[in-house]
Amino acid sequence: MPRSATVFSCSACGHQSPKWHGRCPGCGEWNSLVEEARAPAPARANGGGARAGNGRALKPVALADVQAPAVDRLTTGIGELDRVLGGGLVPGSLVLIGGSPGIGKSTLTSAALGHLAAAGRKVLYVSGEESAAQVKLRAERLGPAALSVPIVAETDLEAVLATLEPEQPDVCVIDSVQVLYDPALTGAPGSVGQVREVAGRIMRVAKERGIATLLVGHVTKEGSLAGPRVLEHLVDCVLSFEGERERTYRTLRGLKNRFGSTNEVGVFEMADHGLVEVEDASERFVSEATRAPGSVVLCAMEGSRPLLVEVQALVAPSELVPPRRVANGVDRNRLALVLAVLARHGGLGLGTSDVFVSVAGGVRVDEPGADLAIALALASAAKGIELTQDKPLAAFGELGLTGEIRHVAHADRRLAEAAKFGLDDVVRPGNGTRTLRDALNGAKRARAA
Ligand code: TYD
Ligand code: MG
Repeated sequence: MPRSATVFSCSACGHQSPKWHGRCPGCGEWNSLVEEARAPAPARANGGGARAGNGRALKPVALADVQAPAVDRLTTGIGELDRVLGGGLVPGSLVLIGGSPGIGKSTLTSAALGHLAAAGRKVLYVSGEESAAQVKLRAERLGPAALSVPIVAETDLEAVLATLEPEQPDVCVIDSVQVLYDPALTGAPGSVGQVREVAGRIMRVAKERGIATLLVGHVTKEGSLAGPRVLEHLVDCVLSFEGERERTYRTLRGLKNRFGSTNEVGVFEMADHGLVEVEDASERFVSEATRAPGSVVLCAMEGSRPLLVEVQALVAPSELVPPRRVANGVDRNRLALVLAVLARHGGLGLGTSDVFVSVAGGVRVDEPGADLAIALALASAAKGIELTQDKPLAAFGELGLTGEIRHVAHADRRLAEAAKFGLDDVVRPGNGTRTLRDALNGAKRARAA
């Protein structure tokens, strides 16, 4: 019988089987078998045995003596993208950009390639999802630079690799990694085996030829990257493009970066001629703040950059048991914690009310420093008290379980950012504010002042 070209391996225990099983015969794990291309049988010169094989012995080198030439990064021409990448694209690196459909992944990568081409770099756009004509329509909105980008519309991995080798672009975009397929595998495009194989083979060619590659990836409903986790291990950088399709603001966040910090965030706005960088995000959010009861400005940190965002809360009587708890832009568990601390230590029980909290503009804040602003917004909404005089009230700080307010990182930079927009009265840890009650009183005082 001819050996089939593929084999099914268990991702838990490594057991290999010629056919697929729902449950691994090796370890009993369910749904862990993944199709892989069979590696060619290694040719052995000698019989092997207990001695080491015929591998070449390597000489270890002290790290201090390793030659690491400083490489110039490729500037994508999109400031926010460069910043999230840690100062531009590293030649030969593999970057995965994940995001839900319609968020603007193709728009961002098309624009980046356009800028790179205009700067004299050799680029290539591989579109598996859209035809060349569809990509052209998008590029027409983005301007002449984007129109100069060469494109191939192809989903066959072999053809794409065969194109990459002679073309040897400096930068290549694969849109998307889930639609390419290796004809040697029987799995459907986008299946775990296919995605792994596709990414692995692209990586080999990219590293060999020094092609900086941007892989576009889909995310599942739950927000994780579709396809295997191994994809995230494989690549050098993982960027996540977040936001809601219906809102204009989108954030680009680094989740993994071998060449820079993962704390950077870029803010974009979708316009009718592509994505526009929002450099003065704080100014916009502060000027858009409603100043009504339930609105508080949070001095957040997005990576190394302070960002002022408006946290809004709505508290309404409810007949539902349990009442609704809706969180947009903040973690649900964080909201639950703040509600519990408010009830226990702030004397504000909201057990019979629906509670909605949202960060205006579709921004996500994932840091403990948001607690205090959420608590103040909730208290202000519940009591119907405006916390604004002529300026919105600003706050930051973490809530402890015993009702204390804890210090958070970069207090000075948060304060400086608030001061830049004339928000001098910031409710925050220290400065006489030690507990949630202190903060609630402080907020009332700030209003009366
Ligand atoms: P797209 O980049 O195709 O999203 P993705 O590749 O992540 O699926 O485009 C996202 C949306 O943005 C799409 O609905 C059309 C819209 N759009 C604009 O509003 N303005 C523009 O200039 C462009 C190119 C797209
Ligand atoms: Mg797309």
